[in-house]
Amino acid sequence: MTTAPLAPVAQARSLLHLTTAYHQAKALHSAVELGLFDLLADGPATVGEVKDKLRIVHPLAKEFLDALVALELLEADGDRYRNSPAAQAFLVSGASEFLGGTVLQHARKHYHVWAGLTTALQEGEAGSGAEAHGPEAYPKHYEDPDRARQVMAHFDTFSSFTAEELARRVDWSGYKSFVDIGGARGNLATRVALAHPHLQGAVFDLPGLAPLADELIRERGLEGRVRFHGGDFLTDPLPSADAVVTGHVLPDWPVPQRRKLLARIREALPSGGALVVYDLMTDPATTTVHDVLQRLNHGLIRGDSSSSSVDEYRAEIEEAGFRVRQAERIDNLLGDWLIVAVKP
Ligand SMILES: C[S@@+](CC[C@H](N)C(=O)[O-])C[C@H]1O[C@@H](n2cnc3c(N)ncnc32)[C@H](O)[C@@H]1O
Repeated sequence: MTTAPLAPVAQARSLLHLTTAYHQAKALHSAVELGLFDLLADGPATVGEVKDKLRIVHPLAKEFLDALVALELLEADGDRYRNSPAAQAFLVSGASEFLGGTVLQHARKHYHVWAGLTTALQEGEAGSGAEAHGPEAYPKHYEDPDRARQVMAHFDTFSSFTAEELARRVDWSGYKSFVDIGGARGNLATRVALAHPHLQGAVFDLPGLAPLADELIRERGLEGRVRFHGGDFLTDPLPSADAVVTGHVLPDWPVPQRRKLLARIREALPSGGALVVYDLMTDPATTTVHDVLQRLNHGLIRGDSSSSSVDEYRAEIEEAGFRVRQAERIDNLLGDWLIVAVKP
């Protein structure tokens, strides 16, 4: 079946919508930066009340709130505004699947990197709006506790949904322990441990994250069952466990370091132990426009251009001495792929 071609005005309109798509993103960014959804989580408010409480002075405050209604982030009820169900579920601080962390990361970092896209393409690196990037940037981010918290909120946004999928799709029944290598402050490890009470969990990440990881482990009542280990995964001893999880870590590194990390993980696992990898992997059969743009985003933010296909991941994991026994696309925010492999 062929679809009828769009009329010229419709084609032109869709291009106009494309070139102004950032209006939508920036309205969302500002609402989160201002704390609007947190304010309205306490109850509906008029424009005047929102202006007072959030110290907004611009005469366009009402137009701003109306734009958020049009974007289905707010609902209008007479002269009052309240959070839409989606905003209430995902954009209020403290929500169990909070997306505000990643919205702020996009507002403060990614948006500025994209503003330099033309320069980046012509000069070979992200524009001057980009702060430090690449794997060397992590320790720098963690020197400032507020910055570390922001970065963790961004990672948590993604790993909350991923944890649910890993808890469900990996057969954990044959394992007693796991370690999440590059597991940030342990959002994924603690969620998997909560879903599978027989598991002992561990997180290995840079030492600067220890206070935030310990805080989260305490908050989730998992002291004694999930432990944080600080170190450099390319040089320091890795904790041994029956299963190693690692996600959104390998693409940060050039091939020699990826190989080294996989070899070190293999060494840390017993025979029969599992390697669980989740990542954005290219797959021509299921690629969407979001996947392609997300890959461009990752490359710009990380400062490299590597993106591997599912087949390349399989080959790399098998070359490292594992046998792949499961490979599937999962239903997390990015539509990552999950590969489970066993050390023979
Ligand atoms: C893109 S994040 C992924 C975090 C988490 N796995 C997730 O999926 O949200 C990469 C992680 O690797 C950690 N990392 C980077 N270099 C590291 C190193 N040399 N040793 C240990 N951890 C490292 C970072 O601190 C960060 O938490």
